[in-house]
Amino acid sequence: MKVNFTETVLRDGNQSLAATRLPYDKFEPILKTMDKAGYYSVECWGGATFDVCLRYLNEDPWERLRKIRKAMPNTKLQMLLRGQNLLGYKHYPDDVVRKFVELSVKNGIDIIRIFDALNDPRNLQVAIEETVKQGAHAQGAISYTSSPVHTHEKFVELCREMQKMGVSSICIKDMAGIMSPKEAYDLVSALKDAVDLPIDVHTHSTPGLGFMTYLKAVEAGADIIDTAISPFSGGSSQPATETMAYVLGQYGYEMNVDQRTLKDIADFFKPIRDEYIASGTIDPVSMATDTNCLVYQIPGGMLSNLISQLKMMNAIDKLDEALIETPKVRADLGYPPLVTPTSQMVGVQAVQNVLAGQRYKNVGNEIKAYCRGEYGQTPAPIDPEIRKLILGDTPVIEGRFADTLEPMFEKTKAELAGIAKNDEDVLSYIAFPQIAERFFAWRKEQEERVVKYTIEPME
Ligand code: CO
Repeated sequence: MKVNFTETVLRDGNQSLAATRLPYDKFEPILKTMDKAGYYSVECWGGATFDVCLRYLNEDPWERLRKIRKAMPNTKLQMLLRGQNLLGYKHYPDDVVRKFVELSVKNGIDIIRIFDALNDPRNLQVAIEETVKQGAHAQGAISYTSSPVHTHEKFVELCREMQKMGVSSICIKDMAGIMSPKEAYDLVSALKDAVDLPIDVHTHSTPGLGFMTYLKAVEAGADIIDTAISPFSGGSSQPATETMAYVLGQYGYEMNVDQRTLKDIADFFKPIRDEYIASGTIDPVSMATDTNCLVYQIPGGMLSNLISQLKMMNAIDKLDEALIETPKVRADLGYPPLVTPTSQMVGVQAVQNVLAGQRYKNVGNEIKAYCRGEYGQTPAPIDPEIRKLILGDTPVIEGRFADTLEPMFEKTKAELAGIAKNDEDVLSYIAFPQIAERFFAWRKEQEERVVKYTIEPME
């Protein structure tokens, strides 16, 4: 049996511990070594990297991708894509989704992991289709959660649909780190029985289950595990690469990762981690084990949001009530997986219900849009009485929300004439308009400065 490793230090490890603040120049020196480590793939793009590059690092995310591609010619580069939402939380029209996938592949991505917060296959379809069309590897992801309606049969059904759409592998994406070793073993076994595709398991170490979860997943036949090199592992990041390789090696699993090279990579990242802890970019608390999410069955990040929200409103004494209300709101809304943005929506609504002393008296716009069907089909029907309470007689969208959106790529491109240098810029703008605009202005200023410097010596 062979086990493959997807290294997450450049994306999820970086995002979960360091708020994605690693600039390209910081990790550039180790890329050549990482290229020789024997990873199945390196996750390096998508998720928050795109936003943070433009917003905080003054980096063109596309340029970052091209540089990584050049420095790592032998390794598959992987990205995370939120289906019809691309990198954000709103739906984009199909022409934008297709263009984004096309240019991601053109700029160097080999594997695109595609997920939807509600596991609605209609939100995955266009991105998967286009990935396959561009000749890349589409990995269809299940947003893992547990609820009375999230049965193995449901997950198997979703995998079969994704297989029909043309995915080359399946990922069980446990974004909250709450999948136990037993649940992983049972679910991987069920999927292995049902679909003939490689299975990748993705978890986080928040409550400390990760290593055990991966071991049991591999025993059940998982083909790929997502790990982070040790200095950027643990806590809200992934389990450590070297530790998993050590254990699986003892059990006789075949692996391509080279322990000696992994040590070099860890030695490189250790001082960076220490520097980031010293500067406050990495909060040591995020590296610790926190089992609250097991007690309350809600993701760690959501719990800390609830606490800070109640503190801000001087109502921390209502925490217990809010924690009892949260699963009720989730059930009312048809058991959405608790992942951004639904985790925030459910959490905020639970707090509102408790503080108002009356359920659904105050309802945010996101929840209203969710109830209208703008996020997709909910795992179970929304409680009809609650929906009526929230929406009144406002009609509900029955079809696919993206079908109601007008194409916008060519139109935006025309509007950006003279500002956008290429189609990649147009997509940066569509994804994050204000931030991209500011970045383009900054970039122009830099370029003009360079021109000035090169001209001056001749005067
Ligand atoms: Co993750």
